Amino acid sequence: MYALPFLDLPPLNGASGTVRLPGSKSISNRVLLLAGLAAGTTAVHDLLDSDDTQVMLQALATLGCAQRWEGTGRQRVLHLTGLGGQLAVHEADLFLGNAGTAMRPLAAALAVLAATQGGNFMLHGVPRMHERPIGDLVDALRPLGCTVQDLGTPGYPPLRLHGQAGGTLATETPIRVRGDVSSQFLTALLLALPLVSAARDIVIEVEGELISQPYISITLNLLARFGIAVQQQGWQRFVIPQGSAYRTPGSVHVEGDASSASYFVALGAIAAKGGAPLRIEGVGSDSIQGDIRFVDAAVAMGAQVKSGPGWLEVHRGRWPLAGLQLDCKHIPDAAMTLAVMALYADSPTHLSGIASWRVKETDRIAAMATELRKLGAEVVEGPDFIEVQPLPAAQWRPAAIHTYDDHRMAMCLSLAALNPLAADNTAGPGVPLRILDPRCVGKTFPDYFEAFFHVTTAHPAQVPVICIDGPTASGKGTLAAAVADALGYHLLDSGALYRATGLASQWDGVAPDDEAGLARLAGLLDLRFGHGPEGSRAWLRGREVSSELRTEAAGLLASRISGLAGVRAALQDLQLAFRRAPGLVADGRDMGTVIFPTAPLKVYLTASAATRAERRHKQLISKGIPASIVDLRADLEARDARDQNRAVAPLKPAEDAYLLDNSNLSVDESVQQVLSWWQARRPF
Ligand code: DC
Repeated sequence: MYALPFLDLPPLNGASGTVRLPGSKSISNRVLLLAGLAAGTTAVHDLLDSDDTQVMLQALATLGCAQRWEGTGRQRVLHLTGLGGQLAVHEADLFLGNAGTAMRPLAAALAVLAATQGGNFMLHGVPRMHERPIGDLVDALRPLGCTVQDLGTPGYPPLRLHGQAGGTLATETPIRVRGDVSSQFLTALLLALPLVSAARDIVIEVEGELISQPYISITLNLLARFGIAVQQQGWQRFVIPQGSAYRTPGSVHVEGDASSASYFVALGAIAAKGGAPLRIEGVGSDSIQGDIRFVDAAVAMGAQVKSGPGWLEVHRGRWPLAGLQLDCKHIPDAAMTLAVMALYADSPTHLSGIASWRVKETDRIAAMATELRKLGAEVVEGPDFIEVQPLPAAQWRPAAIHTYDDHRMAMCLSLAALNPLAADNTAGPGVPLRILDPRCVGKTFPDYFEAFFHVTTAHPAQVPVICIDGPTASGKGTLAAAVADALGYHLLDSGALYRATGLASQWDGVAPDDEAGLARLAGLLDLRFGHGPEGSRAWLRGREVSSELRTEAAGLLASRISGLAGVRAALQDLQLAFRRAPGLVADGRDMGTVIFPTAPLKVYLTASAATRAERRHKQLISKGIPASIVDLRADLEARDARDQNRAVAPLKPAEDAYLLDNSNLSVDESVQQVLSWWQARRPF
């Protein structure tokens, strides 16, 4: 996940491959609450690991639900032991971030439990959470006999819920709740009221038109799996039968998030134009989530979609896309994706029935209109609609997109990076895009951008490269890694390729002057890079060689064989292949002069031989390797001379390189200097 203040996306021109979706947020948090209220232990598979589920898990832990994890990565299974309807902890302060799916149902469940078993619970979140309404739920709970105290603005969190043990609730008359602001209020009551259904049937009546009905279907479906068979009379009246009690089903699988699928369905519709489709795994034709119906809307705009249980495959169909007029009440979250697809259409798109956007993570209608306009689009917004005009290829502008701490804004707007495709006939190079605070995707899809770049392609010339060349021990590696980290870019340590070729030659007994033999080894180099807690790691032919590559001997051998034209040529394609979206920071000797001559930023890093010898000395001593500064300096100077005087690709600054002498700079000062040169070249 990118822990960055911004992420720049280069113009992208295609999509194919496979995305595996993270678990559904709506299903995950409902399952967690149900498992937390039920008796016994539930094994939860494919649970979404995100900000919103973290706050729910934390709250349940505070309330005394035991949690145990088994396995690793996507195979992790949570074993959650529930309370069996009995409070174990009667007083708690629960921070719920910006998770509506935690705030609303926990408020209802804890209000009911406090009122009957005694308790005192404080529920609060981030400032935006305190602007998201909960009054309709509170208005349903108070007549029941729950004590709900507004601690801030009435009708909004924070809330205090309290009550005495032995209290009773007025469940003999129907409980009325408004359904036209958020369906989460009804969901919250449906999840909570089985707790007090021992004596009689409990009737819930919805006032006003119920929005987001598909989310109520998810709630009912999951309640059924936990042993509660709610009787439904249309969308107006729901009956929880007397004696209902949560029973763990033993194990539950969370399906992939259908709202998250919408970005990739849209991506396929816009950019999967070759032979291979974009395949989405985790949701499919058997989904219980309402947002799966986004697929119908995407098809109406031109997508070609095939589906089966747990999968979707998407191709571009009609192009440009067709504008759409749609009442989006049934797909409120995924509908945001349509607003960005609208840019790629050939007629206007009018999305109505989206008043609920205004009370989500941010005012999504205003946010969407503002950000689409930054790209150059014409947008009209109303209280409950948005209308977006197509954006012809020539009119796209580079823009820094605000995301308003709203994961969906970040994910939707990333689709604007496909702008080179906006109209195929006039397609130009396209414009880049900046997504501010990209880590907000952590709410539902922490590795969204990794997945997005994994299935998109860019023209290599459009992928920015920052070259950092310089002599040995100048600090290139440290600087390059820090710059790559700050920008979320890939990293190419080209010296490691020469070092690995040298190592392979020793393993295979190829002589250091056998140019043809070394070139063959270099061409077949099976070298992989990865990240560990101690920095970058490398594997040659499957064997870890991280420290072997860094030895002085490996550096000397590399310096020697790197003078051979055949070796340099054999490593060229491998180096070029590192130029992938979102960008690359490449360090070496000839990054700016030979490998990436058109790179938009080239830095030539130097430091005096004395400074470099001192740094290398410190490094070696800290590893417990004895060394003499005098010898090190002589070695460095000999290596400089060889690298600078060889016939092929000698070490020298590119003509357009910035010179940076870091003898008297800290690493951080050097990084800031390079980042400020880079920022000056960006159009944002
Ligand atoms: O950067 P380094 O110390 O890992 O590089 C080891 C040797 O590889 C260096 O002495 C010269 C050679 N090299 C090169 O010729 N071209 C590059 N782009 C990188 C390294």
